[in-house]
Amino acid sequence: MDAMSFFYWYEKRIDYWDGETFAVALRRAGFQDFGPSPNGGAVRYFCGIGQCQGCLISVDGGVPVESCLTRATSSTVTSGFRSGDVDRV
Ligand code: FES
Repeated sequence: MDAMSFFYWYEKRIDYWDGETFAVALRRAGFQDFGPSPNGGAVRYFCGIGQCQGCLISVDGGVPVESCLTRATSSTVTSGFRSGDVDRV
């Protein structure tokens, strides 16, 4: 039987089912965009197959990864881009 766990999107607790990706859990929780992108748009779930790079997040402060491909883990997740990254573009 599947078990539910949780991670934090910034300070908000997000529940996920084992095997789900971060993107699916965030979308189910009502998040449509995942922060600012370097080009001034929003980081968001789009292709769902790792091609558009539009859904980048950072897990526990690590390098940006595709939220649509990365299985959710008990961690703290933030946008894949920091405000300084956006300012440099
Ligand atoms: S939604 Fe396109 S790479 Fe994740």
